Amino acid sequence: MHTTSDVCDLRTRLDAQRRAGHRIGLVPTMGNLHRGHLALVEAARARCDTIVATIFVNPLQFGPNEDLDNYPRTLDADKAKLEAAGCDLLFTPTPQVMYPRGLECQTLVRVPEVSEGLCGGSRPGHFDGVSTVVNMLFQLTQPDVACFGEKDYQQLAVIRRMVTDLHMPIDVIGVPTVREDSGLALSSRNGYLSDAEHATAAELQQTLRQIRDALQAGGDIQSQLHLGHERLSRAGFVPDYLEVRTPDLGAVTATTREAIVLAAARLGTTRLIDNLSLTLPREAADA
Ligand code: PAF
Repeated sequence: MHTTSDVCDLRTRLDAQRRAGHRIGLVPTMGNLHRGHLALVEAARARCDTIVATIFVNPLQFGPNEDLDNYPRTLDADKAKLEAAGCDLLFTPTPQVMYPRGLECQTLVRVPEVSEGLCGGSRPGHFDGVSTVVNMLFQLTQPDVACFGEKDYQQLAVIRRMVTDLHMPIDVIGVPTVREDSGLALSSRNGYLSDAEHATAAELQQTLRQIRDALQAGGDIQSQLHLGHERLSRAGFVPDYLEVRTPDLGAVTATTREAIVLAAARLGTTRLIDNLSLTLPREAADA
């Protein structure tokens, strides 16, 4: 696996692969890799000949009081994992390479509607930072396929909409969330949890399962969300949002069948997110 922070080097190597007829698969990450990231590499490898991963802790998607400075940086371990997973090329740009004129002067890509509400409501500007950096990574690598985790469900929806709206010839693959046995979704931010918080954290997924099961059995959406809020609060979370939406994040209507329940909640200082898809029976879809 070749590692580079240099845009020319990256482009030259990928051009050569493309000329050789290789399909390029992209796996964008912020590093501190776990099995969830390696599942993205695996999904890209199943579809492409050359796999390029990126590690860049993108300052543009962090708010002023968020964890940019403390975000875990584990480059040597990440390289070893990517190499073992069969990644061919790793791009590790610095903020200076990505934003040479500074964040304030950066051209932005904003994806309306789908980036509003949910995490977009509590993290203003976050998805502008994500869509901007992912657009840049797409321009730099020109992949045939790009893989993102379904845990960051709204991020995946934002990227899909950007690709559609900007007519990008890229196949965006959503890869199922990898979980611990307890149900806790793997996340780099799990590393912030104390042992006690880690033991509690699986309650987030358990609460979503409770809501899914109740709704699939014909329960009322608002009542089940209320019970879910109570369960999370009792467990020690401070819920940020708990919502049921359509798969493309629209409002649920009487005709909605396929839906998704999404949650974000703080446990101590750590903000966790998760989601679960479900099928509403005809008589329950009245919210
Ligand atoms: O999901 C992430 O790790 C980041 O948001 C991404 C997609 C790499 C953009 O910085």
